[in-house]
Amino acid sequence: RTGCFTYDPGFTSTASCESKITYIDGDKGVLLYRGYPIDQLAENTTFLETAYLLLYGELPTKEQYDAFTVRITRHTMLHEQMNRFFSGFRRDAHPMAIMVGIVGALSAFYHDSLNIRDPWQREMASIRMIAKMPTIAAMAYKYSIGQPFIYPKNDLDYSANFMRMCFAVPCEDYPIDPVLTRAMRRIFILHADHEQNASTSTVRLAGSSGANPFACISAGIACLWGPAHGGANEAALMMLEEIGSVDRIPEYVKRAKDKDDPFRLMGFGHRVYKNYDPRAKIMQKTCHEVLGAVGLKDDPILKVAMELEKIALSDEYFIEKKLYPNIDFYSGITLKALGFPTEMFTVLFALARTVGWIAQWKEMVEDPSQRIGRPRQLYTGATERPFVPMGDR
Ligand code: SDX
Repeated sequence: RTGCFTYDPGFTSTASCESKITYIDGDKGVLLYRGYPIDQLAENTTFLETAYLLLYGELPTKEQYDAFTVRITRHTMLHEQMNRFFSGFRRDAHPMAIMVGIVGALSAFYHDSLNIRDPWQREMASIRMIAKMPTIAAMAYKYSIGQPFIYPKNDLDYSANFMRMCFAVPCEDYPIDPVLTRAMRRIFILHADHEQNASTSTVRLAGSSGANPFACISAGIACLWGPAHGGANEAALMMLEEIGSVDRIPEYVKRAKDKDDPFRLMGFGHRVYKNYDPRAKIMQKTCHEVLGAVGLKDDPILKVAMELEKIALSDEYFIEKKLYPNIDFYSGITLKALGFPTEMFTVLFALARTVGWIAQWKEMVEDPSQRIGRPRQLYTGATERPFVPMGDR
């Protein structure tokens, strides 16, 4: 063990670590948060209820839930000084770039006095991070469209508050739609944690050096931005829109199977799931509900997605390589129908995954045997050789 990472020569490209938070059985398509199946949580809990479970290991009692909700609610506002950071960005800056910058800048507001070895200060940093992410995400969106920032409202739940901060304007409030806010809540729960994925491993590795949690979460956001990871929801929708119609699907499936063509079906395949991503099934159901609620149940892009899924799942290439739709396949269509532009899709993923990142960071920092992560390598470079002065080269 080197800190939270153990190096197993059998896995040359991965490090592994111990955790009690999330369990995935990739072959069976099983995902459990602290032992509870993801579909049970997505259907029956609020996002903060699942957040409490991920952070503390048990579903909260009513009293615990109410106290947790009040603490989160009381920290949803950002220090007014932080607002000025946004004006340093171009209006067309990608919101993920803004998220990396603003979340990292939280270190300057809370890190100086933060001792992560003190349980209470660790707790406060966790609460602040989870509470402020929706506000920062909504501000990044508002800044990109040139609208004024909307302050959080304490009488709204986490998902409704976020949607109102995104879509309300000073001259007209945003009518809270229960179907859409239920969909938002479910999407946040589905994205909350996922074991040691690339961005969570980034947060753990950064945190293992003792870096403050805001800087670690900023590193996780940067990693999640990649199109092979959290950026796939944006890429999947752009792919579906490029395909455009059902009759063009075979051409793209052919390209995805061509080893010489870098094109991949975005939203398909997974490092761990060699079966259907259990989150994809819930996302597909949510997609139908949202499109129905906003009058888009006949959206041609949904038809392309469903037909592409059907064709791919019966194609021997995808069957042999065990490539199934993952969470990103239907999330893009759903988020667009909820009113978000494509560049906000990965921001929403980061917003939800902050709970998992913080839970994993806390678990690591609170592990008494924890040491700095130091994955090793298999060296394949030159063996030792004598130096040659430039004139003799
Ligand atoms: C997320 O780790 C997590 O948990 C991540 C995540 C989370 O919640 O944090 O679940 C979120 O990142 C989901 C994945 C989103 N990314 C995409 O949808 C991008 C498209 N998918 C691929 O790029 C790919 O499937 C990966 C990156 C997800 C996995 O890459 P791997 O590990 O290289 O894929 P694999 O080992 O399963 O591939 C097996 C084979 C390979 O061919 P061979 O080299 O064996 O010949 O299948 C091929 C791959 O080339 N393949 C695909 C494909 N995905 C893999 N071929 C066509 N289309 C695809 N989408």
